Amino acid sequence: MHFSDNLDPDDWHEFSRYISEFTAQEIEELARSIDAEVWQPLPESLKQSLKQEKPPQRGTEPEQVVEAYREQIRPYRAGNTHPRFFGWVQGSGNMAAMMAEIAISTMNSNCGGRDHGAVYIERQVMDWCKQILDFPLSSGGLMTSGTSASTQYALQIAMFKKLGLEHKKKGFFGVSSPLRCYASIEGHSSIIKAIQTCGIGSDNLVVIATDADNRINLQELEQQINKDRELGYRPFMVIANAGTVNTGAFDDFTSVRKLCDQYQCWMHVDGAFGAWMKIAGQPYRSLTEGMELADSLAFDFHKLMYVQYDSGALLVRDEKFQRQVFSIRPNYLAKHGKALAGGEPWYCDYGLELSRSFRALKVWFTLKIYGIKKLGQAVGFNCHLAKLLAQHIEKSSEFELVNQPVSTIVTFKLHSDADIETQNRQCEEIVTQLQLSGEAVLSLTRQGGYRIIRAAITNHRTQEGDIITVVDRLCAVARYILN
Ligand SMILES: Cc1ncc(COP(=O)(O)O)c(C=O)c1O
Repeated sequence: MHFSDNLDPDDWHEFSRYISEFTAQEIEELARSIDAEVWQPLPESLKQSLKQEKPPQRGTEPEQVVEAYREQIRPYRAGNTHPRFFGWVQGSGNMAAMMAEIAISTMNSNCGGRDHGAVYIERQVMDWCKQILDFPLSSGGLMTSGTSASTQYALQIAMFKKLGLEHKKKGFFGVSSPLRCYASIEGHSSIIKAIQTCGIGSDNLVVIATDADNRINLQELEQQINKDRELGYRPFMVIANAGTVNTGAFDDFTSVRKLCDQYQCWMHVDGAFGAWMKIAGQPYRSLTEGMELADSLAFDFHKLMYVQYDSGALLVRDEKFQRQVFSIRPNYLAKHGKALAGGEPWYCDYGLELSRSFRALKVWFTLKIYGIKKLGQAVGFNCHLAKLLAQHIEKSSEFELVNQPVSTIVTFKLHSDADIETQNRQCEEIVTQLQLSGEAVLSLTRQGGYRIIRAAITNHRTQEGDIITVVDRLCAVARYILN
C-alpha cells in the first residue's frame, strides 16, 4: 500500500482492500478483547519511548504504522469497550456508530454552517432529541463534545439573559452585584469549571445540601436565594441534576422550575447520562418528570446511548436568544442565501466552534439502526444490572451498600469496624488490585469522609454473569486484603 506525493493512495482499489482488511482485523480484535482483560497498564519503557520520539520528518510505510499502533497503543485501551468496565460514566461504543465514523471520515464535513447534507442531519437529530426529551421543536439544539461544553454554553447564555446582551461588548467588569448560581453538592465538577472560566467565580456557586434521597434540598435552595438577594447578589441560575455522578439521583424538576420562575432564574439540567431515563421505561422514566421544563438541558450520547466519543448536545428553549449570544459573522462568512453559502441558520452561531465535526451522523446511525425502543431497553437493562449488583453487594459479608441505586450507579464500602483511614486505604487497594488484575474496572468516590467504591453501569455489553463475576472478584480481593 502506497500513498503518492499528493497524500492520496496511488491505487484507490488497493487502498479500499487494505482498509477493509484493516477494519476487519480491528473488529476481530474488539470481539476478542471482550473476553480478555479489561485494562492493563502501559509499561514504563513504552511511556518513555513515546515521550522521547521525535516528530516524523519522513513518512513510514502504513503497514509499519499499523504495527506500531497494534503493539504500542491498542493493548493499552482504557477498557470502556469491555463488559466489566464500570469505572466512571463512560459508554461502550456501539457498532452502528462505528459504521458512521467511517462515513464521517470519508465525508469530512464541517458542520459550522453552509448548505450541505450533514447540517440537515444534525438538525434532524436535534429535532428528534427535542421530541424524545419533550422539548419544544422551536428550541435550539446543538451537538457538542459533551456535557461539560454544553453546561459552559448554558451558563454563558444564562449570564447574558440576566445581565443583557450589551455585556457582549461592555464585558462584565463593571457589573456591581455579583451573579449567583445554585447547584447541589452532588453537582458535577464541570459546573465548577464552567463557573470559574466564565468569570463568575466559584465563590458565586452556592452549593446546596441534598435531602435523604440525594436530591437538592429545596428549602435550603430557597433560603439561600432569599439570603443572597438580601445581601445584594443577583441569583441567576439553578443547575439541577438528572442523574448525579456519585449516586445517580434526580432532582425534583417541577419544584426547581417553580423556584426559578419565582426568582427569575435560568433553570439548567445536567442530564449527562440521566436524560436517557426518558426512554428506559418505568419506573425510570418517571425520574425525568419535569426535566422538560428546563431552560436548557445538557446530555450525552457517548454515555447511555453508547455512541463513540465524543458526542454530546445542548437543548435551549429560547433558540433566538442562544443565537444572539453566539452569533458573529465576519465579511467572509456574511449571510449570502444562495448556493453553498446559504442554508441558514448556521451552527457556528449557536456556540463557540466555527469548525465542527459531523458528530450527528453517529447518533443518526444509532437511532435509525437500533431504534429508540431497543436503545431504551439497553438503558433499562443497565438500571436492572445496577440493582442486581446492589442486591449481591448487600448479600455479601465483605461489603455494605452506601446508596440504593436510583439509576445506573451503585456505591458501597467495606463492611468493617476498622477506623475510617484504614477502611479508605483498603477500599483504594481493592479497586487498584481489581484494575491491575484486568478482571474489572471500578472507581472510587467519597461520601461522609469515607472512600467508597463506585460502579457506573453505562455499558450495553454487560450481562448478569458479569455482575456476578465482579462481585465474586471484589469479595475475593477484599478477603485477601483483610487477612
Ligand atoms: C453527571 C455528569 N455531568 C457532567 C459530566 C461531564 O460530561 P462530559 O464528560 O461529557 O463532558 C459527567 C461525566 O461523567 C457526568 O456524569
